[in-house]
Amino acid sequence: MIKIAPSILSADFSRLGEDIQSVSSADYLHFDVMDGLFVPNISIGIPVLQSVRRFTDMTLDVHLMIDKPIRYIDAFFEAGADIINIHAEADTEENNLAALKKILSLGKRAAVTIKPGTPASELEKYIELCSLVLIMTVEPGFGGQKFMADMMPKLEKTADYIAKHGLSCELEVDGGINPETAVTAANAGANVLVAGSDVFKAEDRAARILALRASGGGK
Ligand code: DX5
Ligand code: ZN
Repeated sequence: MIKIAPSILSADFSRLGEDIQSVSSADYLHFDVMDGLFVPNISIGIPVLQSVRRFTDMTLDVHLMIDKPIRYIDAFFEAGADIINIHAEADTEENNLAALKKILSLGKRAAVTIKPGTPASELEKYIELCSLVLIMTVEPGFGGQKFMADMMPKLEKTADYIAKHGLSCELEVDGGINPETAVTAANAGANVLVAGSDVFKAEDRAARILALRASGGGK
């Protein structure tokens, strides 16, 4: 079963509540945090997450594109994140492991993301602690970019690793997902698809979510 995680980076922030309501049939709500250092853009953070948490019961998938995320685990936990997703490139292995353990000790779902230039083997350092890993299919920082199909071998390798080790970890992709690329990603083993611009620009967002979910062919 494919899960869909609309990214509110593509929402209209002046009517965020209505926009969240319009995608409430999705599985997760993807929340992109950018600090202007780890990625060349600044987005939304803790006060917005607090408001979103009060507004919806959806599972909040918080993608931290920030340097040294260990500094902010408590803050994002308190603001209401359900899945706290850190980048492997954002700190040392030691600090990343400590951040993941901290997330687990708070009773939340821990996740690790890799950028397009980072090999799949980097995830293996962390995957035992993760209930989700995310392979970026664009350079993080902006919505509306083109899907990088050359990331599919990384997805396949990670899907194999998860199966071989009997892990229950979900495999998420983020960037450039539309009904066509969703099929490519699902065929490569992804089971959670983040979609920002494609969902929010659709006239019928609920129908678009169903179409994207169907991309896995019921897998
Ligand atoms: C990019 C973000 C994505 C972004 C995806 O750095 O992590 O979540 O919102 O947007 P689309 O689906 O438009 O590529
Ligand atoms: Zn994201």
